[in-house]
Amino acid sequence: MNNLTHLECSLCRKTYQAGNIYNLCDCGGPLLVRYDLDKARKTWSRDQVSQGPDSMWRYAPMLPPRAESIVSLGEGMTPLVRTPRLGARVGAADLWVKDEGLNPTGSFKARGLSCAVSMAVELGIKKVAIPSAGNAASAMAAYAAAAGIESHIFMPQDVPQSNYIECKAFGSKVTLVDGLISDCAKIVNAGVKTEGWFDVSTLKEPYRIEGKKTMGYELAEQMGWKLPDAIFYPTGGGVGIIGMWKAFEEMESLGWIGSQRPKMIVVQVEGCQPVVRAFEKGEQRSHFWDNAHTVASGLRVPKPLGDFLILEAVRNSGGTAIAVSDQELIDAGIQLASDEGMFVAPEGAACVSALEKLLSSGFLKKSEKIVIYNTGAGLKYLEAYSTRFPRSSSAEQDKLGGLITPR
Ligand SMILES: Cc1ncc(COP(=O)(O)O)c(C=O)c1O
Ligand SMILES: [Zn+2]
Repeated sequence: MNNLTHLECSLCRKTYQAGNIYNLCDCGGPLLVRYDLDKARKTWSRDQVSQGPDSMWRYAPMLPPRAESIVSLGEGMTPLVRTPRLGARVGAADLWVKDEGLNPTGSFKARGLSCAVSMAVELGIKKVAIPSAGNAASAMAAYAAAAGIESHIFMPQDVPQSNYIECKAFGSKVTLVDGLISDCAKIVNAGVKTEGWFDVSTLKEPYRIEGKKTMGYELAEQMGWKLPDAIFYPTGGGVGIIGMWKAFEEMESLGWIGSQRPKMIVVQVEGCQPVVRAFEKGEQRSHFWDNAHTVASGLRVPKPLGDFLILEAVRNSGGTAIAVSDQELIDAGIQLASDEGMFVAPEGAACVSALEKLLSSGFLKKSEKIVIYNTGAGLKYLEAYSTRFPRSSSAEQDKLGGLITPR
């Protein structure tokens, strides 16, 4: 039984009845899902959580779909791994990596799309469409396949090969666009009227954030209901950070944690850092970042819709926002792999580089408990990492021959 009551606009606070199909509020603000926290507090304790399924659906009382609508591929309950060798090298005595690369389709996007597709099923939606930097597309394609509904994918034409192949294999209709995620969003928006698609864009769809917030619940559970001192999060659309911040507020209302919050640290890349720029200028909204470019394709989001919510979480937590270069993040990813045996996405690797900078600057202290979110698997980014490990001799023909028949 879930405790869903209504949806509320994050900008103007207008409320919307549950059970209908919505995108944004009339004022353009993203809608947030609200629950009867008093009822949940009386009927569900944190000690019961471990009796639930070994997936993010152990938090179903604070998630929107009814039990019979859930479309699950086993997402969530990813490992929280202590990384002492990396910690010793960078000067952090209590360092952890939450490894979201182990989710279905190899990224944390599985959480959001499991929840969104479950709600699409519940609300009777038959055709979903998404503009994506890559990994959200892979996840939506997988869950739409599992739900037996039609999916339409729009991604920049230079997305990692893994994202393209996954979407095709899952049976989606895939269009590669000569542009960025913002250009893809315009095409999806047009198709809503002409093709009858439901738009599953980040934050224009109210339920992806609910799936992503389980990263916050899980972290608290895995740390014995005590949050760390700092969280590093690679930020594109920012839904992960907004979702976790919402999870912390809900858990406090449930009486599961106190009022203490981790410093929320937004990590972006030099080639696309709209949130860092807004944070440094003391602004409440970001501005479109021109000519966005980076190998960390998930961070190529020139203007996040929920920028004001990201900035609010960063400022209210005493956190910060920082950008690293592509060179630094690939170096950091390789260093983490050889230190700890974890091969992470460039987005997760960016956090390792950011951590080094904030330890050197004194923003963080050695003794603090620090968690890095690795949002995806390194294996999804072979093009990015192969720039460091080129293979010299084999022609494409040779590789194929070697794969199919012994040579
Ligand atoms: C691996 C990876 N990390 C981080 C992000 C950014 O996610 P968010 O929208 O939560 O900021 C993305 C988005 O595509 C991604 O694919
Ligand atoms: Zn509104």
